Amino acid sequence: MISLNYKYADCNVVGEDNGLHIQQKFAEYKDKIAQIITDLNNNKDKRGQGLQWMNLGYSEETVWYVKEYAALVENRFENILVLGIGGSALGGLAVTEALLKPYWNFLTEEQRNNFPRIFFLDNIDPDTMFGLLNILDLKKTLVNVITKSGSTAEIMAQFMIIKDKLEQELGDDYRKNIVATTDKNIGVLRQIAEQEGYKTFVVPDDVGGRFSVFSAVGLLPFALVGIDIDEVVRGVKDMDLALKNTDINENIAAQNALIHYLLDTEKGKNISVMMPYSTRLRYVADWYSQLWAESLGKEKDLNGQTVNVGPTPVKALGATDQHSQIQLYNEGPNDKIINFIRVSEFDNKLEIPKIFEYTGIGYLGGKSVNDLLNAEADSTRVSLSDYNRPTVTITLPKINAYYLAQLLYMFEVQTAIAGALYNINAFDQPGVEQAKNYTYALMGRFGYEESAHILREKMAAG
Ligand code: PA5
Repeated sequence: MISLNYKYADCNVVGEDNGLHIQQKFAEYKDKIAQIITDLNNNKDKRGQGLQWMNLGYSEETVWYVKEYAALVENRFENILVLGIGGSALGGLAVTEALLKPYWNFLTEEQRNNFPRIFFLDNIDPDTMFGLLNILDLKKTLVNVITKSGSTAEIMAQFMIIKDKLEQELGDDYRKNIVATTDKNIGVLRQIAEQEGYKTFVVPDDVGGRFSVFSAVGLLPFALVGIDIDEVVRGVKDMDLALKNTDINENIAAQNALIHYLLDTEKGKNISVMMPYSTRLRYVADWYSQLWAESLGKEKDLNGQTVNVGPTPVKALGATDQHSQIQLYNEGPNDKIINFIRVSEFDNKLEIPKIFEYTGIGYLGGKSVNDLLNAEADSTRVSLSDYNRPTVTITLPKINAYYLAQLLYMFEVQTAIAGALYNINAFDQPGVEQAKNYTYALMGRFGYEESAHILREKMAAG
């Protein structure tokens, strides 16, 4: 299993002002944490709680349907193009970047074991969209459009452009190149998919975008490029079983949630930096940032009081950002907790040759890049503690489907527990909806005329 080391967040290491008496805090919060975990598990099947993602490690039916479709389209497409934004794209991006061979889209078909290349169109920049459409042969591309609401303007705009081009190139046959993942009943995409006869997959009820990576939202693109989704689901399930443990001393998600919550509310560490020491895990930091920000950044608490809470996530990459952000983390405001992610065993070992032996870089010869990267993580952690900056370290034995799934699922549970500690609803996103509605209004969507009028007045005044 993956593990968590929180010693460097303890006040024995970083001092009273910046660390916690962790064992004492675990004892103090033991009952509260046990209650939170019990409530999450008791409520996960209740409608409207936003907790169905806790069942995704047990969704054999979805796995079966995804595998069936992936087998059906195997060898038919050179490219997979995922259309999505936020929760419908970030999980896919994080997992494929971590699990596929590096530079996947540059490899030959043989090097990719005949699996297709994969592209995520996760924004609506006209230049990058234009550029992508220029290099993709749409006839050989399977387009997976993903939107839970079925109406998000960015995704629908991408979809309309691509559908139009597909139809121009393929005539009536274009439908075979589209698979839609959306709500089972509601939303414009569901209507269109049914009218047009696209193959569809379901974003389950009570699974928000940022918690949807282990539903068909993620599993379908993973299977299409040959990622072992049985291993993904096994990782989720094993982590779920481990995190059902109501004893905080045995539950790493609860430990990290409590440490983050207390460092924020008692010690002013309201910034959570996610810093994997692996380039393959760099998008895990993006995915975590959305999960943490959208779930915990809330105006009201569960009693309706205005609280404006939420730690700010920051993404970083080790060792790269040692040469960019660490100066600030060591000497700037002491307002952060830094999460290191470390990998015990990389897939490859890269030796540094014994050359330039009698120069100042001779000491590197005969060591490995693996040793160097892990030495950098160790030294950065110690240097941060010299400056009394708290850190925690999560260690993955290897980067594979099983451990990566454990990591992401652990973060989901950690977020849910943190939400309960902050006493907020971690599963809604009214702040996102507000901006979405304004966009609909500005772009002239039917039914948003009143909002458009108010918005224009505000913009004129501004
Ligand atoms: O996590 C979330 O809820 C959001 O990031 C959504 O995933 C994003 O806004 C896209 O929404 P939808 O899937 O409804 O199109």
